[in-house]
Formats: sequence, C-alpha cells, structure tokens
Amino acid sequence: MDERVFAASPDAIARAAAVVRSGGLVAFPTETVYGLGADAGDAAAVGRIFAAKGRPADHPLIVHLGSALAIDAWAVDVPRLARVFAERFWPGPLTLVLRRAAGVLDAVTGGQGTVGLRVPSHPVALALIAASGRALAAPSANRFGRVSPTTAQHVVDDLGADVDLVLDGGACAVGVESTIVDLSGDAPAILRPGGLAREALEAVAGCAVPVRATGVRASGTLDSHYAPRAALRVVEPAALASALAAARALGTHVEVVAPEAATLYAALRDADRRGAELILVARPDETGMGLAVADRLRRASRGGGETA
Ligand code: TXA
Ligand code: MG
Repeated sequence: MDERVFAASPDAIARAAAVVRSGGLVAFPTETVYGLGADAGDAAAVGRIFAAKGRPADHPLIVHLGSALAIDAWAVDVPRLARVFAERFWPGPLTLVLRRAAGVLDAVTGGQGTVGLRVPSHPVALALIAASGRALAAPSANRFGRVSPTTAQHVVDDLGADVDLVLDGGACAVGVESTIVDLSGDAPAILRPGGLAREALEAVAGCAVPVRATGVRASGTLDSHYAPRAALRVVEPAALASALAAARALGTHVEVVAPEAATLYAALRDADRRGAELILVARPDETGMGLAVADRLRRASRGGGETA
C-alpha cells in the first residue's frame, strides 16, 4: 500500500496527532465509515478538507468530539433530549444537530446557525482526538458523490495524495454513516437515517422521531449521492432470480449485492472494480439498519453513476 498509510499503532496515532496539530489532513477509522479529519478550529485546515474532497464549501461538516463534556464548547441552547441522547448513545453512530456556539467556524457549519456533533466509538478515532487535543471536523473520506470508504484502501483509492496520513484500523463495523438527528428546532427529526436505528432513538425519546426531507444543505441527502458507477436496481426479493437471469440473457455484466449495512459500500466498490454494468439488490425491510440501507440504495439507484 501507500507510504502514507499506517497501521493504527500508538506511534502512528502520535504521528497523526502531530499532523492534525500542524493543520494537516488525517484519514481515520470510525465505527461507521472512514473520516477525513482536520482541526475543527483551524480555518485553513478545514478549507483543505473541501479541496481534497471536491465538496462544495456550503456543505457543513460533522465535528467529532472526545466526549459529551465538550458539547457546550460547540453548541448553545442544548435541549434536554440532546443530553439524554448523548448520555445513552455516545460514543456511537449518532450525530446531533444543535445551535452553534458563537466561535464555531463558518467553514465547519457551512454558514448555517447549527453545528453537527458526534462522539465516535472507534478506539482509534478517540485516541486521535485525545492525542491531538483537538475536535476533528471530518466528512466521510471519499470524493464528493462516491460511496463512503469502509477500509483504508478505499480512502487511498479515492483521495490518494490529497491526504497527509491514513490511519488503518481495519474495516468499519457499522459500515453506513451515522444517523443525523436535528435537535435545533421544536421537534426532533432524522435528517439522515444511519448506523443508529430509529427505533432505538424513539424508545429513548418516548416520542416519534420522523425522517424529515431536509431544507439544509446536507450532502448525504442529495438525491443522487452514494452512487456506484454501475446502474443499481432494487428488486423485490422474490423477483431477484428472474431479474438476474434476464440481465444475463442480455449479456449484461450483472452482480448481486446483499442489503447488509456492514458490507454494502465495499460490495458496491468491488462490483465497480470488476466492471459491473448492473448491480441488483433485494429490497430490505425498512426497520433497524434496513432504513439506512434502503435510503442509500434509493439514492444510488437514482444516481446511475458518479455524481461529482
Ligand atoms: O458517520 C458519519 O457521520 C461519518 C463519520 C466520518 O463520522 N461522517 C460523515 O460525514 O458521513 P459527511 O460529511 O460525509 O456527512 C455528514 C452529513 C452531511 O450530509 C452534512 O451536510 C450533514 O451531515 N451535516 C453536518 N452538519 C450539519 C448541520 N449543522 N445541519 C445539517 N446537516 C449537517
Ligand atoms: Mg459523506
């Protein structure tokens, strides 16, 4: 592999922390997907994230914290439910959208009045935050519009020389991005289904937490995001065998991918790498992780190719 990729030993984490402190970009594993991290308080470093990803500057970034104790340095008017969710689900695959504190960089919030915060549970992510002494602004470490990376190799494939150092912590266990919950308004709403099930949020909230189509610029919510190059079709489970046979009869290079969160993105990338023209996926039940998987499949099937 690449000379910028290091197995996540204590030495490598110390080296990565020094890169963060000097304004560089470090790709690091989280339990959801790999992030492309920079010091969230350094405007120039945050600017480099947008350049590396090819991401529009008005798309906000998630700030990764070492613990819930740091919430009040980044957010104001924090509602009780945010404290409850943080207590119950952090560290873990949940991002809370809260009203931003005055000092938070516009580059991080996309100029909005809110900020997205999360405490990841991956030990390497937590060790990097602790060693650098910084909160890390980090989007998924893919090029804009591509599926998120769930291995260090995916990061290198997408970002190559545009990242200063990649910490390799193996494959991500959750495999889809965090669930984003907006708590900045009157009622909680899911802006992006993800690695934390809606049912778990509702059980703790004691009320419905609906999925809301968002007015804010959330790149993960663009219609044709998370797209593989191949065309993707979601079919009813009972129709999978006949859809496969029909595509093969036409001579199409077709592959079947399982609708499992942990392996979905790697499977889509593998199918692309083998030159698949068509990817078939059986429609998942929209419960538990299935809600996030169905969401990503809908976007990928609309995309039908790279979007940026
Ligand atoms: O699991 C994850 O969330 C991964 C890992 C690395 O933590 N990160 C991730 O980041 O998926 P990104 O930038 O690829 O997607 C974050 C989403 C974007 O759609 C962004 O627009 C949205 O979160 N977001 C961030 N701050 C927001 C805010 N203040 N209001 C609304 N959406 C926000
Ligand atoms: Mg992303």
